[in-house]
Amino acid sequence: MEISRRSTLGLGLAGSLSLTGCTNRLASVSSGFPASDSTLTPQERARDEAFWKSVADQYDKPADIIQLENANWGVMSKPVQAEYFANTEMVNRESSYYQRRDYWPDMQPILQQTANLLGVSPDEIVFTRGATEALQALIGGYNKLGPGDTVMYCDLDYPSMVSAMTWLKERRGVDVIKFNMPEPATRESVLAAYEAALEANPKVKLLLTTHVGHRTGLAIPMAEITEMAEARGVDVICDAAHSFGQIDFKIPDLKAPFVGINMHKWVGAPIGIGLAYIRRDRLEAIDPYMGEGPTDPAIRSRIHSGTVNFAAFLTLPSVIDFHDAIGVANKDARLKYLRGLWAEPLRDHPGVDILTPNDPTMHGGITSFRLTGKTSPEENISLAKRFLDEFGIFTVHRTGLAHGACVRVAPSYFNTPSDVDALRAAILEIASTA
Ligand SMILES: Cc1ncc(COP(=O)(O)O)c(C=O)c1O
Repeated sequence: MEISRRSTLGLGLAGSLSLTGCTNRLASVSSGFPASDSTLTPQERARDEAFWKSVADQYDKPADIIQLENANWGVMSKPVQAEYFANTEMVNRESSYYQRRDYWPDMQPILQQTANLLGVSPDEIVFTRGATEALQALIGGYNKLGPGDTVMYCDLDYPSMVSAMTWLKERRGVDVIKFNMPEPATRESVLAAYEAALEANPKVKLLLTTHVGHRTGLAIPMAEITEMAEARGVDVICDAAHSFGQIDFKIPDLKAPFVGINMHKWVGAPIGIGLAYIRRDRLEAIDPYMGEGPTDPAIRSRIHSGTVNFAAFLTLPSVIDFHDAIGVANKDARLKYLRGLWAEPLRDHPGVDILTPNDPTMHGGITSFRLTGKTSPEENISLAKRFLDEFGIFTVHRTGLAHGACVRVAPSYFNTPSDVDALRAAILEIASTA
């Protein structure tokens, strides 16, 4: 059967674009990105408002508010959404007649394209419905633990992974230790915190890490942390749900043997796509999922999602093409630029605590702050509410940090300098009267 999805790969993107050297990947249409000077570095292109306006034009945005809460998930671009709708129609029309015969053959090149994006082999990844499913399966399936061992996580890790780590006490009979990250953090203080926690807990066998945290957007030096842990015989499961797509890296750069990611955050896939990565030489450390039998490739036995949103997965080629058309290095630089515009001028304000360091290796686009001394959830819920009610700016409060609650700000590819300027002005106004 000829699959309609392939024909929609035109995507409405400009063939003339010369964004990242992928000019020939996308078909030519008038509504696409403008030709952009390919000699620009990502940092220079981050300030190229004509380019970013053309990117922004590819997204629908909520009316009447400034959307600075794009870390929940990342909306699809319009061309990706069109492709997804077309795939949904096709799957719904062709039903199991398509799925039973052609879906898996169709998924093979998609798996390969996804593996290439991640910098890994197709037999090292398995699709999931999101990072939660991926990481909980990795944590639950990790079979190198027994009574007397310890597992460890920190206050910035994500609640559903923390609950899986905590559940290991029941499942594997281990002790569970939580440590707190320093605030304010620096590269040195983060590394020192991991070192001290590992030193103080020599029975740790498994460490959960979060590459870019959802509470403050802190990016931690994953490769160094993995190496530090492995030197002590500790395995690392890395939550890269927020980092993949937001920051320019490949999965092996993390050095972690077990990684969970989301494609529906910063890569721009339809909701319902994540991945687990298990380095080939470590597959045996993860049990088959709840008694799954052998599969080919074997990694497929480590997570079984059942019936999934086939149309979403079939849309991945368009997702990846669109992602590549912008270029992950450009995404990374633009998000950091927008973040720097609001956060850094406030860094020394006596009434504002910016919680994410200025060091470009320690953040992506997400950054959190609080008004100095206002650490309760209620104060931060009400601060986010004031931004929305009085300034039309949508952000979100975050709790669970050892040092107190905060408000998280997460610009996306369609946001502008004036969006983040409006936030900075609002923070200044509120801080001056607090
Ligand atoms: C750091 C982190 N890990 C994991 C997840 C879970 O992602 P999902 O709900 O898409 O499975 C999130 C979601 O926001 C997250 O921020």
